[in-house]
Amino acid sequence: MERKKLFLSKNRHHVVINYKKHEIIGNNKQIILEQLELYGFLIPYSCRSGICGKCKLHLISGTVKLLNKSYLDNIHEDGMIFPCCCIPISNITLL
Ligand code: FES
Repeated sequence: MERKKLFLSKNRHHVVINYKKHEIIGNNKQIILEQLELYGFLIPYSCRSGICGKCKLHLISGTVKLLNKSYLDNIHEDGMIFPCCCIPISNITLL
């Protein structure tokens, strides 16, 4: 119930986050790592600030936005992203 309130707030746009074939309704305001955690997915992490690389996931489709330009090195050409410093701006699929 609490989770539903969070995602239905007026200031957020909903996006579908598909993680390992599980679909969740997320938003475009919160980092991907936190959104996955809210749904019970345990993503390995350490720094939560784009430094260690432990949370790295493969972005199969969709678009993400970095929260801070200093994280620019954290979106790689091979599609790997650090979900601790990215928000989804479209529906996304992650592995
Ligand atoms: S937790 Fe360190 S880069 Fe994401």
